[in-house]
Amino acid sequence: MLRATRPKPVSHEVFIRLDPINLADYEALAKELLPYNVWNEIESGAMDEVTTRRNRTALQSLVLRPRLLRDVQHRDLSTTVLGTPVSMPIFVCPAGGHKIAHPDGELATAKGAGMSGTIMVLSTGANYSIEEVAEVATGPLWMQLNHRSPQLTEMLVRRAEEAGFKAVCLTVDSPVPVPQERSIKNRYDHPFERANFRGMNVKTGANVSATGDPFA
Ligand SMILES: Cc1cc2nc3c(=O)[nH]c(=O)nc-3n(C[C@H](O)[C@H](O)[C@H](O)COP(=O)(O)O)c2cc1C
Repeated sequence: MLRATRPKPVSHEVFIRLDPINLADYEALAKELLPYNVWNEIESGAMDEVTTRRNRTALQSLVLRPRLLRDVQHRDLSTTVLGTPVSMPIFVCPAGGHKIAHPDGELATAKGAGMSGTIMVLSTGANYSIEEVAEVATGPLWMQLNHRSPQLTEMLVRRAEEAGFKAVCLTVDSPVPVPQERSIKNRYDHPFERANFRGMNVKTGANVSATGDPFA
């Protein structure tokens, strides 16, 4: 008589945590380590995330064309982005508030980008200021800019130029703060410091205590 053989149950003791080796592994680890709301804030996209899902699908549909029978002795991913040399065709996109994940925030990101030989784009809404990041950075820095008023824009661009930033990346798709529906559902609000506006009224640029947050 033929009897189906069941696989033996795997005991929890034999579970082995594999070292992270790719981005998906790091993502899974971050999910485990970060508080639930923080993870959702970082991982979620704008509104109900339809565009995020479409972007992911579109990206996954891209494939690399294999070029066979070439000399692969010296492999080199380096290239340039708008004239800036980088070690690989990847750079750090602007994201506000890195301290949400780690107290070293953008300082650590800047060091990591420099060590990897690539550009870091610092967010207008960073937790460390233009000057603080420039102080520790070893690689090229670009400045992401949300235009909210001529005074604030001029102040940020002048400071970035003074600190050695090489380019300004103007964000044009969020003239008003973009809600993240997951954070609304979680009732998550993270009042973190926007270091570039310490001691200022960010609505007017005047030197009074910080109120409001037009950069969220
Ligand atoms: C948590 C988070 C914060 C972000 N903060 C900013 C920001 O401050 N300024 C900005 O221009 N873009 C910001 N972005 C958008 C990213 O720079 C990037 O354009 C977007 O995530 C799309 O790239 P991706 O598909 O690789 O995630 C943020 C994205 C995330 C996920």
